Amino acid sequence: MDVRKEYLEFFKSKGHEVISSMPLVPDDPTLLFTNAGMVQFKDIFTGAVPTPENKTATSCQLCVRAGGKHNDLENVGYTARHHTLFEMLGNFSFGDYFKKDAIAYAWEFITKNLELPIDKLWVTIHDSDDEAFELWKNHISEDRIKRFGDKDNFWSMGDTGACGPCSEIFYDQGEENFNSDEDYLGGEGDRFLEIWNLVFMQYERDNEGNLNPLPKPSIDTGMGLERVVAIKEGKFNNFDSSLFMPLITKTQELANKKITNSNIGSFRVIADHLRAVSFMISQGILFDKEGRGYVLRRILRRAVRHGYLLGLKEPFLAKLVDTLDDLMGSHYTAIKEQKEYIKEQITLEEARFFKTIDSGMSLFEEELKKTKEKFSGEIAFKLYDTFGFPLDLTQDMLRDKNLDIDIAKFEELMNEQRTKAKAAWKGSGDTLAEGDFKSLLEKYGKNEFVGYEKTAQTCKIVSILDENFKEVEQLKKGDEGWVMLDKTPFYAQSGGQCGDIGIIEEESHIAEVLDTKKFFDLNLSQVKVTNSILKINETLHAVVVNRYEVAKHHSATHLLQTALKMVLGENVAQAGSLNESSRLRFDFTYAKAMTNEQIKEVQDLVNSMIARGIASTTEELPIEEAKKKGAIAMFGEKYGDKVRVVDFGGVSVEFCGGTHVRNTSDIGSFYITKESGVSAGVRRIEAVCGLAAINYTNEIINSYNHLQVEVKNQDVLAGVKKLKDQIKDLKKELEVAQNQSQAPIKEEMINDTKVVVDVVKNGDIKKIVDDLKNANEKLAVLLLQPKGEKVMIVAGCKNTTVKAGDWIKNIAPIVGGGGGGRPDFAQAGGKDVSKIDEAKVKALEFVKAQL
Ligand code: ALA
Repeated sequence: MDVRKEYLEFFKSKGHEVISSMPLVPDDPTLLFTNAGMVQFKDIFTGAVPTPENKTATSCQLCVRAGGKHNDLENVGYTARHHTLFEMLGNFSFGDYFKKDAIAYAWEFITKNLELPIDKLWVTIHDSDDEAFELWKNHISEDRIKRFGDKDNFWSMGDTGACGPCSEIFYDQGEENFNSDEDYLGGEGDRFLEIWNLVFMQYERDNEGNLNPLPKPSIDTGMGLERVVAIKEGKFNNFDSSLFMPLITKTQELANKKITNSNIGSFRVIADHLRAVSFMISQGILFDKEGRGYVLRRILRRAVRHGYLLGLKEPFLAKLVDTLDDLMGSHYTAIKEQKEYIKEQITLEEARFFKTIDSGMSLFEEELKKTKEKFSGEIAFKLYDTFGFPLDLTQDMLRDKNLDIDIAKFEELMNEQRTKAKAAWKGSGDTLAEGDFKSLLEKYGKNEFVGYEKTAQTCKIVSILDENFKEVEQLKKGDEGWVMLDKTPFYAQSGGQCGDIGIIEEESHIAEVLDTKKFFDLNLSQVKVTNSILKINETLHAVVVNRYEVAKHHSATHLLQTALKMVLGENVAQAGSLNESSRLRFDFTYAKAMTNEQIKEVQDLVNSMIARGIASTTEELPIEEAKKKGAIAMFGEKYGDKVRVVDFGGVSVEFCGGTHVRNTSDIGSFYITKESGVSAGVRRIEAVCGLAAINYTNEIINSYNHLQVEVKNQDVLAGVKKLKDQIKDLKKELEVAQNQSQAPIKEEMINDTKVVVDVVKNGDIKKIVDDLKNANEKLAVLLLQPKGEKVMIVAGCKNTTVKAGDWIKNIAPIVGGGGGGRPDFAQAGGKDVSKIDEAKVKALEFVKAQL
């Protein structure tokens, strides 16, 4: 049975809208990853966005629980049920049905569709929830309904947000299979398996921890796909199911190892982590030293270390990606489409870790031998800092030894390093706690952005912050700080577009706006007061100065993306972008460097789109409609969000919150200034348009004019060719002159053999030896030539007892070299030019002794 399909179709038949899985990275500063099916609906639950027309929905959501409130990373491989990435089936009601139907639907699906035997099912409810008790009694006998407290039967997504009491459905895997002391309902054992959590969303928890009732009670449910598939297949461990076994079998093949009780954990970790890493990469997360990218790195390195335990000593994970594609690629097409990119990224990161893993492992083993109680925090830090072992990896290595790390010491060293790294850092606000801005938001509400329509606006200063983001009454001449305007025309940096700059003015005083940024939902402009005083509540005039040129670059970026897809293929996906007033930068996934022809083709295409004068339209659409229009989506949109769609006559249609030109012809012209690689599988294009393109072409024309003067020719190429010819002729002349200026080479006759031994400063000594050989019947010649610090030696012999090879073998060591060769010809190099005369004397002695 295809459980995923069965579930979605069941709820569709009950009138639910089927919604696709939202990105793993939510547009939500309080969450590291999407960790439940309800995340994309959270603003609907709290009433922050309007309820959609269809008040019920269903989805199969990819979730990552490897950081933040819900973190299962350390349990993976050691338990039967934990995963870093899993699929959560869910049905949702936004003020439509509540407990009664949620329970009835769940029961019907479990008993009719999944056909799980009733005598194996149990349910739990919150101990205060009599209503749920009464409702469940319609389906299951009373003695199978158990009450638990907040720990088990109250669910929340994070520290704040929608939450409520819940009811869980358990499947009894049988006393005959599980009979430890912990195998009771609510115990730690595996006998009673939680398969479905029905959350009765009733509250929103605020910053202080208060539970405020939601406008409309709602439903959020979550059922782990992996668990249900395992049960349906009669497996007691998720990893034994058909969702994971192909990955485990493939790993077994690669490692050429049998599965045993002691190594099975490693196989499971690898299978789990490979899934998480591949999906995270396919959604644009890159390996990094912090944040989500660091979680990605931790997961991958943990997998590599388990591979290492299985004897896999070089990158291997990418070899599992095809198997993953077979398993999941048809439902999650990003895996199929980005397969090669995923493989490349994985291998690159593995290679980075394999470089240090040996040394790290030895350091670890050495320290382990010495460890009695706690593993040294200093060594754990060294493993982290020098060898790239994340802390939890070291903890994982100590797990079966039952040893802890001296975390206090580790933290102390980490903090020291952080302080050092930040010494030169000036607060940008990015690391401020959300709370600081939440209180501003609560006090004043969001400020309005009017910059799509206007670049100048009369507005009021709602709040002033100093450089350290502390609220103040005023800023004086020379001060820097931040202002919040009630209606601001300044665009806050986002989506790759830089923040607006400009001025705020009023008769006698004026402040420069240096930048504009978004802090959670607030749009703040960074200012420097250049005259008089800036006071709170004042009415002023705000003017944006850079907008038009920025808009040209942003619009050109959209056209560039279309052109790249046309030339390189649909798989090209945006991996980052920057739009400023004087340049644009666009990173995209593509495996190879572009050829000059491809670059030119892309440039020509963009210029032809500019020349066609295509008008732009922007409209706000519900996300599903925008997707239907074929708009290129970015990351982080949630269901129910309205998205802004920027459309250049159907040629380019993208979700975008940025500012754009009204017509492509406004862009003027477009030049690609550079194409380069950012990392394996990611390329970067830098380009200019608008005024910057004029500056760029002017610079080239200027250089060309200078070149004409320098090469004394209107036709620069002809001028350069002439110069090159001259250089060639001069080189030839020089060589002739050098040979002529050559001091006569010393020769003497010993018996009837001509003996030539000398130091020759210029000319080609090999050629001289050849010429001598041609001109003499009996010959022994050895020439030395200084080459900077080094020495070159060539020897030639003809019709004589002296052997060139032996001769040179004797002489070369004197100038710190070695070499040899045939009896008739040999050459060598030496490193010590100061011994060249000594070598000459010895060479003559050698030959005299032989003749
Ligand atoms: N949101 C609930 C959970 O994750 C259903 O368990």
